[in-house]
Order: sequence, then structure tokens, then C-alpha cells
Amino acid sequence: MEKKNIGFELSIYNSENELSQIERELLQKAEATRKNAYAPYSNFQVGAALLLENGEVVLGNNQENASYPSGLCAERVAVFQAGACFPDKKVMMIAISAASKKYTVDTPAGPCGNCRQSIAEYEQKQKTPITIIMRGEKGKIYRCNSISELLPLAFNNSFLGDS
Ligand code: THU
Repeated sequence: MEKKNIGFELSIYNSENELSQIERELLQKAEATRKNAYAPYSNFQVGAALLLENGEVVLGNNQENASYPSGLCAERVAVFQAGACFPDKKVMMIAISAASKKYTVDTPAGPCGNCRQSIAEYEQKQKTPITIIMRGEKGKIYRCNSISELLPLAFNNSFLGDS
């Protein structure tokens, strides 16, 4: 029997002043687009800003639906938009901002499992890591170097037997 510890490095910042200018600006764009979220049911608003290798920024925010499962998270709105409009451009970084109309979110909200899986698909496709930066409305900022670190033992196309 063998045991293996799987860990990852999380960088924790107290202020956006500790981020690089590119990171700070991307987080600010995620915060701005969060305000366009359509979240009348949960009142939880999320914004995502993706930086592509050509400098283009693609935005997304959560879009809810009266038929709850028909809604979509901010991260997938953004990453699918990037895949649809810029299929050949690598995603370098994703900034995620979360807020609630019911309380003050002071802890970074990590992407949900479905969003991790969706982002991981593009990371695997492009063969370079996607940095994730997260923040609530206030408080600390988390940064991790790759979506694969947030989704260990992920299912991917290698299991499908075609590659
Ligand atoms: N949500 C996101 O947009 N991203 C996540 O990673 C977690 C949750 C949205 C979905 C739903 O509209 C609301 O937050 C509450 O779950």
C-alpha cells in the first residue's frame, strides 16, 4: 500500500496592491462585470475576467433562470465565450469576484466543481497552466497557479481512449 499527499501552493494576498498590474486590472474587470450578473434567485453575484495570450479580456457573469439548473456560472459563461470567439488563443489567467446582496462576502469563492472541470478542459487543450485569482467583496485574495491543482485526479479525454 502506498499513500500519496497531493497538495498545491496557494498564494494569499492581503491587498490588491500586492498583485502585479496585469492581475490587479483583471480582478478589477471581474469586479466590474460581476455587477451585470443576473442573479435574482440567489442574490449571489459572480464576475469572471479571462486574460487571453493576445491581451484580449473576455468577461462573464452568472446568469440564473427560473428553472434553476438552466442557469450558468460566471466562469463557464466566460470560458465558453472565449472558446467560441477565440478558439486558438490560450487563456493565461482567470480572475473571479464574488458578492452577495444578503451579506458581505469576505472570503474568496472558489469556482464550483463544474466550472473547474470546464476550465480544466481548456487548460489541457492548450497545454499551459491557467492561473486563477479569486476574491470576495473584500478581504484576502487567493491565487493558484493552475486549475489542475484545484481539481486533482480530474477526468479528462485521455480516459476516452482516442488519444
Ligand atoms: N456561481 C458562479 O457563478 N460561480 C461559481 O463558481 C459558484 C456559483 C453562481 C451560480 C449561481 O447563479 C449563484 O452563484 C449561486 O450558486
